[in-house]
Amino acid sequence: MTDPLSESAIPASQHRLLTAWKALSAHDRPKLAAEVAEVDFELLARLWTQAQTAQSTETVAARMARAGVPRQLVRLSDPDRQSAAPLGEGLLREGRVGVILVAGGQGTRLGFDQPKGLYPISPVRGATLFALFGEQIRELVRRFGRPIPWFVMTSEATHEETVAAFAAENHFGLPSDDVYFFRQGRLPALDRATGEVLLSGPDALALSPDGHGGLIKALQDAGLLEVMATRGLTTLFYHQVDNPLVRIADPTTLGLHVRHRAEVTTKVVAKLNAAEKVGLLADLDGRTEVIEYSDFPAELARETLPDGSLRFWAGNTAIHVFEREFLVRLASGAQELPYHRAIKKIPFWDGTRLVEPDSENALKFERFIFDSLPAANVALVVETDRDDEFTPLKNATGDFSPDHVRRALSARARTWLRDASVSVPDEGAIEIDVRLALSSSDLHGAAIEISSRAGGWWVTGRRP
Ligand code: UTP
Repeated sequence: MTDPLSESAIPASQHRLLTAWKALSAHDRPKLAAEVAEVDFELLARLWTQAQTAQSTETVAARMARAGVPRQLVRLSDPDRQSAAPLGEGLLREGRVGVILVAGGQGTRLGFDQPKGLYPISPVRGATLFALFGEQIRELVRRFGRPIPWFVMTSEATHEETVAAFAAENHFGLPSDDVYFFRQGRLPALDRATGEVLLSGPDALALSPDGHGGLIKALQDAGLLEVMATRGLTTLFYHQVDNPLVRIADPTTLGLHVRHRAEVTTKVVAKLNAAEKVGLLADLDGRTEVIEYSDFPAELARETLPDGSLRFWAGNTAIHVFEREFLVRLASGAQELPYHRAIKKIPFWDGTRLVEPDSENALKFERFIFDSLPAANVALVVETDRDDEFTPLKNATGDFSPDHVRRALSARARTWLRDASVSVPDEGAIEIDVRLALSSSDLHGAAIEISSRAGGWWVTGRRP
């Protein structure tokens, strides 16, 4: 009898995979069969062919030379921004806002053995990233009196532990029906020399999540774009798992998004310096896009204005607001997000043992959510203050390490309290109860208690 899988599902060019398949007994095949069924070999063949075609760096540079500052831009100093908040509050009060959290990444740089969202990051309580987000959403629900459905994207790597942790924390006080978990897709790494898929063991492909841009397909496959419609959601606040300073669904940003009739809004912060490794928001050929720092020519990045500030200053925070209709349009395939390839060192199964390569041996492909921006009819860019909203947890040490992020959280808490004329100890970690303040303005006129806790300061209280 012919084996249906080896005959049809595995292309003949995948010699290594076919050999591995044949080496397995029928009893040991189901795992590999399930993984193979996930793989779109035609797509991989296309990506491999594209990878063989050398990109013309000249073309990239010439294109970048046409880059300009985003047209639809709201600066921090813009006098209109405060008046936008009531519009955003209206959206929340009408129950039209949902939150999307992407938490499927492998977090390799941090080197934490659980999903990154479970990292205990808050400076006094040691609350996890997930808890800080969940508490904010619960407080918004309390204030505006409407559910805020929460869509949490996981991957094979993070799904089970994430779902279990939410359950163990009682979904941070949110109804479990308002929290939707959905898994993103995976792609196998390719051997850089041959284009064949790599295996990670005798019955396993070297699979990894397909990037945060996998969101669109994952939402659609899980039927969640429909769920959003059924629940009356028009607008989705999107953020990543690594930034505990994010101010979820902040009314000013939502309001600006509505006022400008944007299909997507992106928060940006001023780059720290020309060399900072952060995506850049710019207009190119009439569309707003995020340009990866590696694609942006260094001499352009260094250009300054007469006042000495950077000409291209708008760094991507990966905080967006999306119209549901725009996500639907993307999901319909009208505008496919491209795949980006990265050259990586990936251990692989050579048929007898796991080989740790000495040099980069593999190609990995990912989609990025920010590639959706050029498809938007109106893509709005809103500046925010880095100290107030952006310090992502990325690395085990140094910049964007747990220490750095905790210091940023404490520093923000101090600033908020001082802005509200509350006297605060100069030293020590400090954390404000999310139920008391989602922003500095919540502290004005509030009755505030500061107590010593776990070697730091814990701030609670009541707003007027
Ligand atoms: P990063 O680009 O920082 O990747 O993800 P990462 O996997 O978390 O970390 P490294 O690069 O391995 O150290 C930014 C955000 O996008 C999510 C992450 O969970 C994080 O919120 N993400 C990334 C996904 O949800 N899926 C992916 O496939 C990749």
